Amino acid sequence: MTEAAAPLEAAAPYESAAPHATPATGPLDRTGAVSLLARCDELAAYSTLPGGLIRRVYLTDEHRAVNALAAKWMLEAGMRTWQDAAGNQCGRLEGRTPGLPALLLGSHLDTVPAAGRYDGILGVLIAIATVDRIHSSGIDLPFALEVVAFGDEEGTRFGRALLGSRALAGTFDPDWLDLVDEQGITLRDAYTAFGLDPTLETPAPDAVTDASAPTGLAAAARRPDDLVGYLEAHIEQGPYLEEAGHALGIVSSIAGARRFAITVTGQAGHSGTPFDRRHDALAGAAEIVSLIESTARGAGLIATVGHLDVFPNAVNVIPGRVELSLDLRAEFDDDRDRVWQQLGDAMAAVAARRGLTVESRQTHSAPAVACSPRLRAAIETGIRSTGQTDPMLLLSRAGHDGMAVADVTDFAMLFIRCRGGVSHHPDEHVLAEDVAAATDAFEAAVRALVAAHPA
Ligand code: GLV
Ligand code: MN
Ligand code: MN
Repeated sequence: MTEAAAPLEAAAPYESAAPHATPATGPLDRTGAVSLLARCDELAAYSTLPGGLIRRVYLTDEHRAVNALAAKWMLEAGMRTWQDAAGNQCGRLEGRTPGLPALLLGSHLDTVPAAGRYDGILGVLIAIATVDRIHSSGIDLPFALEVVAFGDEEGTRFGRALLGSRALAGTFDPDWLDLVDEQGITLRDAYTAFGLDPTLETPAPDAVTDASAPTGLAAAARRPDDLVGYLEAHIEQGPYLEEAGHALGIVSSIAGARRFAITVTGQAGHSGTPFDRRHDALAGAAEIVSLIESTARGAGLIATVGHLDVFPNAVNVIPGRVELSLDLRAEFDDDRDRVWQQLGDAMAAVAARRGLTVESRQTHSAPAVACSPRLRAAIETGIRSTGQTDPMLLLSRAGHDGMAVADVTDFAMLFIRCRGGVSHHPDEHVLAEDVAAATDAFEAAVRALVAAHPA
């Protein structure tokens, strides 16, 4: 994890990403992988941060621009394209007859602040490349293939993750329309400014894949009968494939997550105030951060405090209020919920001892979700087809669109080794050889589902 701790710096331009450009090494389509990685670099240019850092969030000009680029690549791959009612960019290759249920392939195009260039993006591009190959091969498809480039998986702008995939799954909560971004813009207004209709009406039965259909947000929702499943390729965002020397792995399930906004309130005051008269919100918050780490670690799950605002944030004023975020994840929801209870008690004890108050509000909750055995088997077949024996089964501690899509159809995921397990950082890195293998495996997984599908 030393690389994860490195200071943030601008993402290097593609020319300096030399590992992508070394000679071909075998039967895999390394040239195709290098082109695919060049597309990741092209998308990385759409950012609201200066100096080559990447930050691209939901319902912005950058979102619109990457959707247009993805749509162009989808068209070139033989797909009909449209942007759905939630701003997800979609493309569709019909099966042997028009209108068949679709196997969804995809990932997301939005990013965290100071992001890498592969989290989500690589999965969208592997999905497009897979459809391109299948289209070119002229194979008889018993179902349609659709690529979905989700608009919001990270939740960076509105603090609530999976907005794009929740809309697709039909589980979008109308209350979320009142969420606000850092500028105070509501999600409702952001949809309108993006040219989308934020009303949540029941769509007409044939509205889901037609750009001219009713525009309400509910029109993004897909029906289970129209879907065969959802497959996603994604960088591992963990160290285990690299440690084991494996390029690819199979995801078993995605950890359940809950996020909270925690406010610690004390008493602001002069920095000359004696210690025994202080109610220092930051000293209390620091204790709470440390407690969160030790409690989660002791319980074998993970927790992150990634955001902290200190008020008034002045060198000679005792902090009167601190707002912090908590992201809590576990393989099993019961463990996660039990640890949150314990933390609630522990935070209250800190507050009582220091004369502070602690309030918390849940901002996100997603249950742990298991991948479908049927689709997992297809991913395994895909990995084995690349010559990799005994693929590892990995729990994903990172969240993914599949968590939301699982409400409407089965899903499974292919993991790709990433250097040092580093993600959500400009140093995110994948090998072209691994991307070549992943694209081959993903295509083979789709073909395995084609072969297994009733005629
Ligand atoms: C998304 O990457 C998440 O796990 O929060
Ligand atoms: Mn991410
Ligand atoms: Mn992701």
